[in-house]
Amino acid sequence: MAKRRGNSKKNTGAEEQRAAGKTAGKGKKAENDRVFEQRLRRHHDELRWLYMELYGNSDMFAELCDQMKRYYDSRKEGLKALDSKREKEGKWYRGRDMVGMIMYIDNFAGNIKGVQKKLPYLEKCNVNYIHLMPFLDSPKGRSDGGYAVADFRKVKPELGTMDDLAELAEKCHEKGISLCMDFVMNHTSEDHEWAVRARQGDGEYMSRYFFCADPSIPEEYEKTVPQVFPTTAPGNFTYLPELGHYVMTTFYPYQWDLNYRNPRVFNEMMYNFLYLANQGMDIIRIDAVPYIWKELGTNCRNLQQVHTIVRMMRMIGEIVCPGIVLLGEVVMEPEKVAPYFGTVDKPECHMLYNVTTMATTWNTVATQDVRLLRRQMDIVCSLPKEYTFLNYLRCHDDIGWGLDYASLSEWGMKEVPHKKYLNDYFQGKTEGSVSRGELYNEDPVTGDARFCATTASMCGIESAGFEHDETNMERAVIKDIMLHAYMFTQSGIPMLYSGDEIGQVNDYTYKEDPDKAPDSRYIHRGKFCWDLMENIEKEGSVQSKIFHALTRLETVRREEAVFGADAEVYTKDYSDTSILWIVRKAEGRELHAVFNFSDQDKEIWMPEVTEYTDLLNGKREVKEKAGLQSWDFLWLEK
Ligand code: GLC
Repeated sequence: MAKRRGNSKKNTGAEEQRAAGKTAGKGKKAENDRVFEQRLRRHHDELRWLYMELYGNSDMFAELCDQMKRYYDSRKEGLKALDSKREKEGKWYRGRDMVGMIMYIDNFAGNIKGVQKKLPYLEKCNVNYIHLMPFLDSPKGRSDGGYAVADFRKVKPELGTMDDLAELAEKCHEKGISLCMDFVMNHTSEDHEWAVRARQGDGEYMSRYFFCADPSIPEEYEKTVPQVFPTTAPGNFTYLPELGHYVMTTFYPYQWDLNYRNPRVFNEMMYNFLYLANQGMDIIRIDAVPYIWKELGTNCRNLQQVHTIVRMMRMIGEIVCPGIVLLGEVVMEPEKVAPYFGTVDKPECHMLYNVTTMATTWNTVATQDVRLLRRQMDIVCSLPKEYTFLNYLRCHDDIGWGLDYASLSEWGMKEVPHKKYLNDYFQGKTEGSVSRGELYNEDPVTGDARFCATTASMCGIESAGFEHDETNMERAVIKDIMLHAYMFTQSGIPMLYSGDEIGQVNDYTYKEDPDKAPDSRYIHRGKFCWDLMENIEKEGSVQSKIFHALTRLETVRREEAVFGADAEVYTKDYSDTSILWIVRKAEGRELHAVFNFSDQDKEIWMPEVTEYTDLLNGKREVKEKAGLQSWDFLWLEK
C-alpha cells in the first residue's frame, strides 16, 4: 500500500509537472504570438503597400503573412532569444571587436563538421564572423563556385547536411561567432526543380523564369544590357533547342534568371530565405542583388523594383527573425551602392561591401599615388555613420577596376590605358612590379579585363619566395601587413580572406581541373595550407610574421575607442602623394594612421610636437617627426 501510495504521489507530481509545463508552454506560446503580432503590426501596412504595388495580389500577400508566422513558430527558442537580445542591443554587428573571415568549407576543413572542429583555430585568428562560401546543392561542373543552386534546402552531400549546418551555427553561437551564408536570389541552377519542369514546357514553371521563343526579344535586351562574363559566358540569353525557346541567363548559361514579376517566385524565395535563417544563420549575403529585376530597354541593374524587394525582405526578416543581418552584394560604383542602405525610416541592407575602396586600394599599390584613395575615402567618410561597410582586400571574386576615372583622367590617367597599366602591373609585367596573378574575363573587343590573385601574391610574397629573395620577401611581408592595417583603420567590419592570415599565395592547380580551368578566379580559391599554418609558431617565418602582426592589429583595434564605429574619421592633406594619412577621433583620443604607399623610405612630420603612443609597441614619446619605411605604416595615438 505504502509503495502504491508513494507511486501515486509520484504520479500526481509528474502530472502536476506536466500540467504546469502545459500552462508554461501555453504561456510561452502566448508570449511568442504577442511578440510576432507586435513585429507584424509594426511593418504590416508598409509591407502590404509595397507588395500590392508590385503584385496587386492580396491572396498571395495573405499567404506570405501565414507563412511568416509558420517560420516564426518553427524558429528555435534559442534563436528567438538571440533575436530579442539583438533587437534590444540594436546594431550588434558594428562592434570594433568584429573580425570576419570568408572561406570555402571544403578548402578550409573538408566539410561542415570539419569547420566545427576548426573553430578553435578561428578563435585564435580572433574571427567572430564566418562567411561560408556557397554550400547548397549545386551540379558538379556547372556550379559557378556554388552560385548555381539546385536546391535551397539541401547542403551539397560532400559537405554534410542541414543538421550539420544548424549544429555548427549552435556551436558558433556558444563561442560568440556569427555565421554568414549566401542567398543566391537572382537565379537558380538549370537543375533546380523549377527549371527542370520549365524545360519540360510546364507553363507554370516557365513563368518563373524569362522565356521567349521570338529571337528579337533577346536581341532587344542585348542592346542595353551589359555582359557580366563577356569571355567565359557571352550574352544574356541561352537558347534551349529542345524547347525552341530562349531563357535569360545573365551569368552562366546554366544559371537561369528568376522572374520576380511573378509573386510565386518572390514568395517561395522568401520562404527559402526564412528556412535558411532558421538554420541559425546570422548574416545573409544577398548575392548579385542589383540584377534581380529586369525591364526591356534598361540595363537591368539597380531598378527601383530591386529596392522594393530588398525593403520587403528587410521587413520580413524583422518580423520573423530580427536577429539577422542583410549584407548586400553590390559590386558597383559608390552612387549605386549607398542606396541599398535605404533610408533611416526605411532601411534596406544592414551592410554592404566597400568595393570601390578595395579596388582603389590596389590602384594605389600600383601607382604609389594616394590621391584617388583619399577622394574615395572622403566619400565614404562623409556618409552617415550608421552605414556599415565590409572592408576587404581580397575575396573569392576578381578585382574589377571600377575606379573613378573622371578623377584619374584629371591627373592624366585615362581609363583604357590605365586599366591596362594596372593589369600589366599586377601580372608582374611592369618593371619593378613584384605582383603575380592572372587576368579574368579579358574582353577581346574592348581589351577590358579584371584581375585575380591572392593578397600575398599581389604583395610580392609569391615572387620573392620563388626567387629566394630575402630582401624582397621582407618588403612584401611589410606591404601585406600594412594593407591589412589600412583595412583595420577603416570604419566598418574587416573581412579576411581565409589563407591571407598566413600569406597564402596563388594556387595554379585549378588549371588541371577542366571544370575550373576557364575561370581564373580559382587561382585564389585554393586549399587552405594547414602545413604552412604550423609555421605560425616558427619565429621569423613569413606565416608567423603575418599571423602575429594581424593578431596585434586586431587586439589594438578591439581595445582602442578610436576604432569605434561612431568615431570621427577623415583623411589629412599631406604634401607627399604616396603618404595616406587617416585621423580617427573618439572619446578625446586621436589616432594618426599613416601609410607609406611607396618603394621609398620616408620621414613624416607630425601635425604638432607632442606625445604620441605607438599603438603597436605601446611606447609613448614626444614626436616631431617619424621615420616610415617603404610600404610600412604607423598607428600613433595622441
Ligand atoms: C556574385 C558572386 C560571384 C558569382 C555571381 C553569380 O557576384 O560573388 O562569385 O559568380 O554572383 O551568382
